Amino acid sequence: MHLLTISDLAKNDIDHLLDTAATLKARHKKGIPHNPLRGRTLGLIFEKSSTRTRVSFETAMYQLGGDAIFISQRDSQIGRGEPIKDTARVMSRYVDAIVIRTFGHGIIEEYAKYSTIPVINGLTDTHHPCQVLADILTIVEKKGGYKGMKVCWIGDGNNMANSWIEAAMVLGFELTLACPKGFWPDEMILKKAVAANPKIRVIESVEDAARGADVLNTDVWASMGQEEEALERRKAFKGYQINSKLLGLAKKDAIVMHCLPAHREEEITEEVLEGPNSVVWDEAENRLHIQKAILEWLLVEGATR
Ligand code: CP
Ligand code: NVA
Repeated sequence: MHLLTISDLAKNDIDHLLDTAATLKARHKKGIPHNPLRGRTLGLIFEKSSTRTRVSFETAMYQLGGDAIFISQRDSQIGRGEPIKDTARVMSRYVDAIVIRTFGHGIIEEYAKYSTIPVINGLTDTHHPCQVLADILTIVEKKGGYKGMKVCWIGDGNNMANSWIEAAMVLGFELTLACPKGFWPDEMILKKAVAANPKIRVIESVEDAARGADVLNTDVWASMGQEEEALERRKAFKGYQINSKLLGLAKKDAIVMHCLPAHREEEITEEVLEGPNSVVWDEAENRLHIQKAILEWLLVEGATR
């Protein structure tokens, strides 16, 4: 079983991961050791930068009693052009699971095709499933559940937006995305999701998206790999910002989320990011707890699909 997208998971799988993460988090806070992955190794192949995903996965592995090996593109043979399908078969002979962060989603699909160990998506240009699972864990903690939530996405129809759309498809909550023309989420992902859950919609008005929302969510205007478009994007996304005025349209107790890293005064103001509605630090912490649940599910419980 690989975890490449949220749509690889059924509602039961996600509920199970959320329950496990909550249990593991509570145990960890009490200092109760839990080492089911002793003797197991996680490989991490990253072709893009990372703070949270790398450190949370490595720490998760250590806390569960296992080990982690980080492999950057720069100092492995991947950077010198060794084919993905060869790397996948070789790594399968050494480690027990692998996290990959790369560019095109096809790269991780190709890797998974040749891998005989579980492959976990640590971000591609089209999906960021582990982040969205951590985000939903945060919503469950802050709001008591995801059912009936009005979730709003402001900004780029990027990898995070696509994974949110798939989460709304699988879990059935309401999701409104406000994206400027030309920066909408993946058409195929959106079409499939809307057919399953008509409460998913993409609009242009940030105000209409934010009105009455329980959760306000955003991400950078230019993702990794889009650095050269940054200037043009800054123009296109003007107004697609979570600020106190927009927050004022949401429910009084709305939570504000951002997967981080954030660009203050672009997609979100400093005031809101650091304000009382922001849950971004708990959201970042929850990366660790959900990664532990994912690793335990794949490596101990032997998840199959
Ligand atoms: N949110 C997230 O994935 O952060 P990193 O790029 O630091 O891993
Ligand atoms: N959309 C962002 C997310 C970073 C965690 C990117 O892909 O760069």
